[in-house]
Amino acid sequence: MWKALIDTLTEAAAAHPDVVMASSLAAEDMLLTHAIHEAGVPVAIFTLDTGRLHPETLAMIDRVREHYGIEIERRMPEAGAVAAHVQAHGEFAFYESLELRKACCEIRKVAPLRRALAGRSAWITGQRRAQAVSRGQLEIREDDQVFGLIKYNPLAAWEEADVWREIRARSIPYNPLHDAGYPSIGCDPCTRPIRPGEDPRAGRWWWELADQKECGLHAGNLGRRQAIPIQPVADASA
Ligand code: ADX
Ligand code: SF4
Repeated sequence: MWKALIDTLTEAAAAHPDVVMASSLAAEDMLLTHAIHEAGVPVAIFTLDTGRLHPETLAMIDRVREHYGIEIERRMPEAGAVAAHVQAHGEFAFYESLELRKACCEIRKVAPLRRALAGRSAWITGQRRAQAVSRGQLEIREDDQVFGLIKYNPLAAWEEADVWREIRARSIPYNPLHDAGYPSIGCDPCTRPIRPGEDPRAGRWWWELADQKECGLHAGNLGRRQAIPIQPVADASA
């Protein structure tokens, strides 16, 4: 499983020298960061700093720098767009309606992601199939028709237990919120700890229905998806 992960990252970096990884700084992404470091592949990493992340999450940027010598780039939303949205709808508009929640995600996450991916041919995410009904069809390598590039989900087939087994076995640093009841971590006001027996994503946008819980970063999960078989590296550059 670990070797397959290293192989996917190596293949992605060879086929797409401009590939980037999007890190939420949560467990899956720390595991990917560790694997990227171990593989020695030149994959730049960025995080979408929405302005509403937990301090524990932001602190992981320093942990990664200290532990791996890797600088994670912070991609910010446009200050003017955030200010206009808050002025018009308030600081906590996302609780009021799905439309306002999606508008906030668009300004703070999706538009900055679009800018981060502009001109690139591939990106890497830490999504897993088991995370949500909307992710059940994920492929390791797929055509991201929303953002117009290749998307790698190297952990698509991994279970939560696989992630934590590797994190512990390899002493990978992780966000302390995971030990405080947060299996899935997003923005502070839109994430709560879960109770025993609850679905791991039950604490994300907990006031919404499970099949609406995509913020736009992975909008393609809700629509048609085209899987692309992994090409041998030599073929990909031919
Ligand atoms: S979300 O769409 O519901 O927020 P989730 O937290 O499950 O996503 O994370 C899935 C993947 O999306 C992460 O592994 C990461 O690749 C990407 N991602 C999510 N949030 C961020 C973020 N703030 N910055 C960068 N990438 C992110
Ligand atoms: Fe806004 Fe919540 Fe979306 Fe973060 S998760 S961008 S605070 S609506």
